[in-house]
Amino acid sequence: MGMALPARGGSIFKEGGIERLSIDYVPERLPHRESELRRIVEAFKPFLGHPHAWRRILIHGPTGTGKTVTAKKAGEILSKISRDMGVRFKYAHVNCRFERSAFGLVQGIIRQAIPGLPLRGYGPAEYLRALFGHLEDNDEVLLLTLDEADRLIGGLGDDLLYALTRASEAAEVPQRISIILIARDANFLGRLRPQVLSKIRPDEALDFKPYGRSEIFDILSDRVEGAFRAGSVSAEAIWFISKNASALGGGDARYAIQLLLAAGLMADRDGSPRILPEHVREAQERMDPRIDREDLLGLSREERDALLAVARALRAMGEAFYAPIEAVWGYYRVVCEGRGAEPIGRDSFEAILGRLRALGIVDIEEGAGISLPLMRARALEEFLEAGS
Ligand SMILES: Nc1ncnc2c1ncn2[C@@H]1O[C@H](COP(=O)(O)OP(=O)(O)OP(=O)(O)O)[C@@H](O)[C@H]1O
Ligand SMILES: [Mg+2]
Repeated sequence: MGMALPARGGSIFKEGGIERLSIDYVPERLPHRESELRRIVEAFKPFLGHPHAWRRILIHGPTGTGKTVTAKKAGEILSKISRDMGVRFKYAHVNCRFERSAFGLVQGIIRQAIPGLPLRGYGPAEYLRALFGHLEDNDEVLLLTLDEADRLIGGLGDDLLYALTRASEAAEVPQRISIILIARDANFLGRLRPQVLSKIRPDEALDFKPYGRSEIFDILSDRVEGAFRAGSVSAEAIWFISKNASALGGGDARYAIQLLLAAGLMADRDGSPRILPEHVREAQERMDPRIDREDLLGLSREERDALLAVARALRAMGEAFYAPIEAVWGYYRVVCEGRGAEPIGRDSFEAILGRLRALGIVDIEEGAGISLPLMRARALEEFLEAGS
């Protein structure tokens, strides 16, 4: 860490690094979702090679908590296990938000479950019959994830779920299709018709909670290793991004990864060999702006002076994300001197910093000092200088 690598003509991203930060990428490991992943894999193991032993699992939780990626990872692991066991298994993953009709969804399922089947001239019922026939003929089982299943409401959704459970078939055929339902809101099950719910009711429901700051730190650290050249992203930068993602992004890992990617692109744009604090702040400004100039104009004289001191202290700190309060205090006194104004006392000064923190404009980190989470120190300094 901290080794300077020249980015001469290059990039701080590794080859293929940007792809490893893309939304759909399924990483090698899923820190802090290991136990959930194990539970899902264990739940479906008995289903491999036993087409009667179908199961239903519900994964629910807010955005960016790893629902989609964990289901996909479980599919990968189960595919490998079934290959080792010599049994036929397929994993299919469809997103109910992207498909406006049950027909589109069925096509999506078929495309993954029977890649060779020509997709013409069939209605949804024929497609499903073809799917059941294919599974039967090949002695195969299918694990189907219906992602964002809470978008699948109303008659069509109910009918599709009902048809997938083969409930309409009189004969005692094995089910052969297990289901993972993913939803932000677990209550959507209550909106299903009772006879559908009774067929699809989950055996197990997993509640994915928002990530905390240190969990996001671990997730990002993994991604940094895969996506960036060594030494280009400090632990301090990852820790800083993690705080924004947990405080502003509500514990959403996608928010964190997008912020990291955006900051990396800013560093590349500037030809910098490392992600600097100003890159993260600029990425934050662009991705999720939380304050505007108007907000700053509403601050008192003392607050603006204190903020100017924060900006100058941070600019002087260079690559450090935080400036010691002591240094900020020093800059504040210089600001006052420059205007020929009497500085307020140290206690009042800290009270003002506390207020700026409550407004979210500055961040105070125990032991590290004070920082600007939302906007570039340079832009803030210029703005405040112009307004004074
Ligand atoms: N534990 C984790 N380890 C590594 N990456 C993760 C982890 N959790 C989430 N991610 C990554 O964060 C991003 C968001 O995760 P995912 O898409 O699974 O969220 P989600 O819960 O499905 O959100 P939504 O409800 O918005 O669909 C993805 O890029 C995913 O790879
Ligand atoms: Mg998702």
